[in-house]
Amino acid sequence: MPATNTSDILIAPFRGITVKAYRNALSRHFGYFNEAYAPFVSGIGEHKISPGKLADILPYESMLSPTVPQIIGNNAKEIILYAKAIEDAGFDHLNWNLGCPFARIANKKRGCGMLPYPAEIDQILHEVYPNISINLSIKMRLGYKDASEIGQVLSVLNAYPLKHIILHPRTGLQAYGGQASTDAFLEATTRTQHKLIYNGDVFNLSRYNQLRELLPDVSSWMLGRGVLINPFLPSEIRGVIYSDQQKRNILGDFHHELWSYYMSSGQEKRSLGMLKAIWYYMAGVFSNGSDVFKRIKRAKTRHTYTESIAFALEQAFASDQELESYFKKLSTKF
Ligand SMILES: Cc1cc2nc3c(=O)[nH]c(=O)nc-3n(C[C@H](O)[C@H](O)[C@H](O)COP(=O)(O)O)c2cc1C
Repeated sequence: MPATNTSDILIAPFRGITVKAYRNALSRHFGYFNEAYAPFVSGIGEHKISPGKLADILPYESMLSPTVPQIIGNNAKEIILYAKAIEDAGFDHLNWNLGCPFARIANKKRGCGMLPYPAEIDQILHEVYPNISINLSIKMRLGYKDASEIGQVLSVLNAYPLKHIILHPRTGLQAYGGQASTDAFLEATTRTQHKLIYNGDVFNLSRYNQLRELLPDVSSWMLGRGVLINPFLPSEIRGVIYSDQQKRNILGDFHHELWSYYMSSGQEKRSLGMLKAIWYYMAGVFSNGSDVFKRIKRAKTRHTYTESIAFALEQAFASDQELESYFKKLSTKF
């Protein structure tokens, strides 16, 4: 059994998946993580925030786990407005997304599309810092087109009192292909004065343990698709062991909470779509994950969907090897 450890475990944001209902259900049924980052909001404007832009993080008291709101964009006034709004709501920390690789975002100098422009990042932070009183952190990649972009960005960031930097060591162009580079991550640690949090390809417990050896100074880990596939990963990291029957019950309860939440809208088709997006990842917790997902994806009615979930919950759980191969077969396009 791996030694338990006291590193911080953070849950990565996934737009369209890790919304409040998911984060709360994850916290209630699986737990063992320290914080969850909310998916980014964008286009909030400079003057007045529409309530919809805050819906995923309000009210503050409804969040079962500490939650960090995230913004994407390149407008200092928007960041200031959002920081004030979330501060009023009770939050003390905002994350700025400089990592999103999708072309339609990055080509507008947003997400990782800002990384080739360190002077503009500097200008934005120069304007933002005197006008906010909550913590700011950054989630970023090595660069947009080239991994050397990070050097200048880190020098700029050294001048500001960031809470931390979460680094997914790939470029935007790489998106999710190839391997996240631990060498590039280590190199970044020598160039920053900030605490660096590791994110990328923690697909199972063995990989987590390997990464801890490769990156012994990292004390906080952001877990993404590894948790979406196997929500028990944080508990496994803490050394908690459940029987298979306990795991089936936990998964069943987690699913039931989300199913009830989405179905309470009365929109069956939309609910099935939301649940299928979750199962696209979570089917991989079973050893025949691709088969499980195929059945769930085929379900067009509430009845056939319920049958496909009953089938899923009877399957054997995936080994670490199977979790890894399911992760590596994932496409980011569902
Ligand atoms: C469908 C999808 C949606 C995502 N949404 C966000 C987001 O809203 N904000 C963000 O910072 N990262 C987002 N990410 C990136 C993840 O948070 C994470 O950084 C990435 O998956 C790498 O970590 P992993 O290898 O552990 O999954 C998204 C990724 C995917 C595939």
